[in-house]
Amino acid sequence: MEIKKVGVMGCGAMGLGVAQVCAQAGIPTVAVKATPGSTDKIRSGLEKSLGKMVERGKMTAEKKDETLSLLQFTTQEEEVAGCDLIIESIIEDLDTKKALFQRLEGIVSPQALLTTNTSTLSVTAMMAVCNHRDRVAGLHFFNPAPVMKLVEIIHGFETSDDAIETLDTFCKKLGKDPVIVQDTTGFIVNRLLTPYMLSAIRLLEMGTGTIGDIDHAMKSGAGHPMGPFELADYIGLDVVEAMTLNIYQDMHQPHVSSPHTLTRLVQLGYLGRKTGKGFYDYSTKPPMPNPALRHPVA
Ligand SMILES: NC(=O)c1ccc[n+]([C@@H]2O[C@H](COP(=O)([O-])OP(=O)(O)OC[C@H]3O[C@@H](n4cnc5c(N)ncnc54)[C@H](O)[C@@H]3O)[C@@H](O)[C@H]2O)c1
Repeated sequence: MEIKKVGVMGCGAMGLGVAQVCAQAGIPTVAVKATPGSTDKIRSGLEKSLGKMVERGKMTAEKKDETLSLLQFTTQEEEVAGCDLIIESIIEDLDTKKALFQRLEGIVSPQALLTTNTSTLSVTAMMAVCNHRDRVAGLHFFNPAPVMKLVEIIHGFETSDDAIETLDTFCKKLGKDPVIVQDTTGFIVNRLLTPYMLSAIRLLEMGTGTIGDIDHAMKSGAGHPMGPFELADYIGLDVVEAMTLNIYQDMHQPHVSSPHTLTRLVQLGYLGRKTGKGFYDYSTKPPMPNPALRHPVA
């Protein structure tokens, strides 16, 4: 089966990035904003960021125009009716995603593939509420989607081999580097990365080093492009917390429970780069540690 048109549900950091990747590969894409309100800001934001790529010589002006012409932004879910593939990228909440999958089955054709970009939730749990389970799978992109090469293709319990083959071909057409993974909480990358970020937060709480020290050590000593706090802020602390809760529910081991500091930052609405503050405060250049963390953690 050839994927001729894609529907992306959710226009947050990931949804918008995935929609951009599909359109850049020449595939007509409908991006559905999951919350009410105008889509004008989303289109103009993307136009601006593609404009910067043109200025830096990373994209031609023609490619920018072609990409934008292939993208349709809407708030109406029904607009994805003619799509061969849906990539769901809404909030990381299982009940909300399950309800969306059920609505999608009433909108798209029975042959269309339904995929989720979930970071840690069970693809099989979303499959379980569908009538045509064999066409349900995971397509886990990485942030920022236009830059990162890996896509984890998640094989749910009843995903058909044909669906996996179609998704593998599709990812390669996008210029991505897919890996097929069985449905395990956190898949490969987040199963390994989440406990790593949690351990860094615990080292901070123990007073082993400052945020800057720990980030510096992992960049300089382990060759990581970002330290664990920079990475957590980049992913979004609400997403990190959701991944933590899901992995904890699966493993029930103390080292994968949510540390006090992570819970408190999320409660305060400090979700990382997307809100301007997380472990760091991004109002200054270079970013400084968030002043909310100036006192020792109880
Ligand atoms: N941030 C990452 O690094 C990353 C990487 C890979 C996958 N993901 C996954 O992608 C998905 C989206 O994450 P994101 O980082 O784009 O988050 P985000 O906060 O940037 O976007 C969330 C999206 O969900 C929508 N939304 C909010 N409340 C909603 C509701 N009640 N019902 C339906 N939609 C709602 C928002 O409008 C927005 O479009 C999540 O499943 C996340 O786990 C995130």
